[in-house]
Amino acid sequence: MDTQNPEAAGPAPAASDIEPILDVDGVTLQYKTKEHLITATYQVSFHVYPADRFVLLGPSGCGKSTILKGVAGYMRPVEGEMRLKGRDIKDPGPDRVMVFQEFDQLLPWKTVKQNITFALLNGGKCTSSHEADEIAMEYIHKVKLDRFENTYPHMLSGGMKQRVAIARGMAMEPDILLMDEPFAALDALTRLQMQKELLQLWEDTHFTVLFVTHSIEEALIVGSRILVLSPHPGQVKAELNAHHLNHDNVGDAEFSNVQQRIHDMLFADRILEDELETEDA
Ligand SMILES: Nc1ncnc2c1ncn2[C@@H]1O[C@H](COP(=O)(O)OP(=O)(O)OP(=O)(O)O)[C@@H](O)[C@H]1O
Ligand SMILES: [Mg+2]
Repeated sequence: MDTQNPEAAGPAPAASDIEPILDVDGVTLQYKTKEHLITATYQVSFHVYPADRFVLLGPSGCGKSTILKGVAGYMRPVEGEMRLKGRDIKDPGPDRVMVFQEFDQLLPWKTVKQNITFALLNGGKCTSSHEADEIAMEYIHKVKLDRFENTYPHMLSGGMKQRVAIARGMAMEPDILLMDEPFAALDALTRLQMQKELLQLWEDTHFTVLFVTHSIEEALIVGSRILVLSPHPGQVKAELNAHHLNHDNVGDAEFSNVQQRIHDMLFADRILEDELETEDA
């Protein structure tokens, strides 16, 4: 792990007084198929504190989605521990809500509002439909979809569908929101707008989010802390603070410098891999 960087995070700010929401300690996650045993992540450790915008950054195949599956409770580690608010993660639960990259994560036969109320009522967050309606409308407003509450998903753009998925996730008020490349399938302008909106929502409610991306720029804009993972199998390369960086810094000297150093960190492995492949040949 990189401890030479000025941005190297060390313990989170005031970590001594605050308990982490999420502890991931030495976690190895594997897939067993009939023919293969695939190690997706190897002895990964990190801690997410309340109101962190914690980003998992790494190249395709380094196990980012697998870590989210572990935190969501769909996979158990073969080594190490994952704890949410001090409790071992054994199963999925409404205290962790996932937002995916795909636009088809909404129920197509339900309207925008019904998609949210359905989650609230089925997730046990609300017992009355009146209460669920009120909460749904509050979050529809937060993601700027007023007037679209009775619209069906097929009539929405990709960006609007992602806003509904985010509103649904946030309405559940989970301990931690898990976002797996939620903006990756959007065009560049919409992606930029959604990043800004996410940060605005965070300013309003200071939710805790574990956000996956393979874009260095997006990690620096969205994240307050960034875990850089090596290529497959994913291991921790460095943990960085990015509190002070956002859209306004894109292109300035410090932003470009950190961006370049992360790039070099990831690229160094590629060079090593290429060399090893050449030696094997
Ligand atoms: N269901 C599965 N069965 C077997 N192997 C899998 C499965 N899902 C993922 N893997 C393997 O585990 C490794 C990590 O995959 P994962 O999807 O977590 O990577 P990722 O970092 O999210 O990549 P991307 O940026 O492309 O989404 C890869 O080698 C992948 O092939
Ligand atoms: Mg993935």
